[in-house]
Amino acid sequence: MKHIHFKEINSTNTYLKENYNIYENLTIVSAEHQTNGKGRFNRKWFDNDDLLFSILIKENLDSITDYSLLIAKSIFNVLSKYIDDLSIKWPNDILANDSKICGILLEAVTTSKIDCVVLGVGINVNTTDFSDDLMLKASSMKNILNRNINKEELLKEIMICFEKDYNEYINGNKDYISVINNNFYLKDKEVSFKYDNEVYSGKAIGINEYGEILIEIEDKIMNIYAGEVTFTNIYKK
Ligand code: BTN
Repeated sequence: MKHIHFKEINSTNTYLKENYNIYENLTIVSAEHQTNGKGRFNRKWFDNDDLLFSILIKENLDSITDYSLLIAKSIFNVLSKYIDDLSIKWPNDILANDSKICGILLEAVTTSKIDCVVLGVGINVNTTDFSDDLMLKASSMKNILNRNINKEELLKEIMICFEKDYNEYINGNKDYISVINNNFYLKDKEVSFKYDNEVYSGKAIGINEYGEILIEIEDKIMNIYAGEVTFTNIYKK
């Protein structure tokens, strides 16, 4: 994988979305610091000695939301070598003991077709300083392990793992679905979510082979695609 590193940039996602034409499939852009880091739902993503990178995907774009699950699986596997008790909160976060340590932001560039996908990843690595608001919901590898982690080595491990997972995926391997189901943060939790402007509540069961979440509502099972739903009570147990 071609790797480009910046000391400072507005956002590695924005950079790749603006420059995807000049880079090949699976180029990875990382940064020491972002001046305008982006989270999901137009939130800002603040950083402080964290691992920030984006991966460009220009081929095999038939089912683009698969990629946020695929990268979640790769990161889960690598971080599991450091931390026990990790789980994956479909579709985008990795949690350690109920606290978020990694967020994933998938963005697409579309003209008459989908031109590329940019998979942005922020991992709280050596941050110990969270705002009070985040303190309740977020943690970092350093907070958990009480030591600094070498970000370059961590990124290298993730790149090797993701490249392998990507090659298996394009050859039809769907093992990432079972890794997510076996480590599914929402399993058996009551969730409320908004879908088509209506609020529903039900019990999350897992994901199906298409990566859709399955939610049991009374005695029916609803399957919902990631882009279609916003959860309203996700961190409550
Ligand atoms: C989220 O949980 O809201 C997703 C956060 C994604 C943050 C990463 S950091 C690297 C990449 N560049 C960005 O501007 N955002 C993503």
